[in-house]
Amino acid sequence: MTLPITLPVTHPTGIYNVIVGANLIANVREMANIQGALALVTDSNVGLLYASQIDGADCIITVPAGEKYKTLPTVASIYDQLLVNGFDRKGTIVALGGGVIGDMAGFAAASYMRGLDFVQCPTSLLAMVDASVGGKTGVDLPQGKNLVGAFKQPTAVLVDITTLRTLPPAELVSGMAEIVKHGLMTNPDLLMRLESSQWSMDSTPWSDWQALVADAIRVKRDVVQEDPFEHGRRALLNLGHTFGHAIEQVSGYTVRHGEGVAMGLVAAANLSASLEYCDPALQTRIESILTHLNLPTRVPAHLPPDALYAAMGSDKKKAAGKLRFILMRGVGDLFIVNDVEKTAVLRTLERVRMNG
Ligand SMILES: NC(=O)c1ccc[n+]([C@@H]2O[C@H](COP(=O)([O-])OP(=O)(O)OC[C@H]3O[C@@H](n4cnc5c(N)ncnc54)[C@H](O)[C@@H]3O)[C@@H](O)[C@H]2O)c1
Ligand SMILES: [Zn+2]
Repeated sequence: MTLPITLPVTHPTGIYNVIVGANLIANVREMANIQGALALVTDSNVGLLYASQIDGADCIITVPAGEKYKTLPTVASIYDQLLVNGFDRKGTIVALGGGVIGDMAGFAAASYMRGLDFVQCPTSLLAMVDASVGGKTGVDLPQGKNLVGAFKQPTAVLVDITTLRTLPPAELVSGMAEIVKHGLMTNPDLLMRLESSQWSMDSTPWSDWQALVADAIRVKRDVVQEDPFEHGRRALLNLGHTFGHAIEQVSGYTVRHGEGVAMGLVAAANLSASLEYCDPALQTRIESILTHLNLPTRVPAHLPPDALYAAMGSDKKKAAGKLRFILMRGVGDLFIVNDVEKTAVLRTLERVRMNG
């Protein structure tokens, strides 16, 4: 197994390391230099697989798996268990799981007794390359996703790529969509690597996975370092997400986040080309990469454009009441448009519909 790759991340109040390697989580206390009491927060799937491997956890808090539990009542149950176990501000919360656990445990760490230290151990590909870096934490409300949250920087992020072995294949594929997004943002080489090999847990060497994950994290790291509170460039990380979130929501969350993002990337390219910002060939290229990775490219026919458009209005990624989209001039050349006409969006939704 190759040596860990360390990526330092600077933020407004300090610096932390993202360490990408193999077999890291068992030694989380030592690797993340945790001195006081350690509360491990995990979900029912990941806890069963990995909680017993963690050395030196003073308490293990297991919450039910799934986005539908990324709620304030679940956070309240985490506070309860921290109190029962006598945690104060000298303790550390370690999040072990996918993006749901990272977001929720991070929010608990930001708010319990006005904040205690927080370490991320992401175990899904999506959480590794996206959710665990950048300090955004939060929960969903019945009215929508991620409507309550806080910026809470971790003190360390341990990305143990060997945990991907147990990740359900559909979740692995879903995480690849965010890597495509990161490639489109700033790194054409990532895109070339994605399309030139077969990515599988069985046949791809660990060193290739490690390099892919580390390079995808670098894209996110560079953007969040430059714009930690999303006043500008960080919004580019939402490429494909205005469409993607609407698709997820209207499908009743039967479409996974990464699948929605994949369709959203195609739609963003289609919209960009229809407004003459980019060559239509960009959409074709994106579709071919996504297809190669077993990701969907077309919006299911049973999700009507009108309903999707309405759902976009409830997404919080809008500025001053107008729909905001991240559009592309080409790979590595993204920009924000705040006032795209409804008709243009509806036309794109028709064009990227299955059998459309
Ligand atoms: N904070 C951010 O900047 C940010 C960025 C992107 C996404 N997110 C959030 O991340 C969440 C999605 O994350 P996700 O896709 O990781 O979802 P998730 O946390 O629900 O994980 C997906 C599924 O995989 C399981 N799982 C995770 N790791 C596993 C492993 N190694 N082995 C076996 N099973 C495993 C989980 O139990 C779950 O069932 C969303 O809530 C989204 O809003 C946050
Ligand atoms: Zn995403």
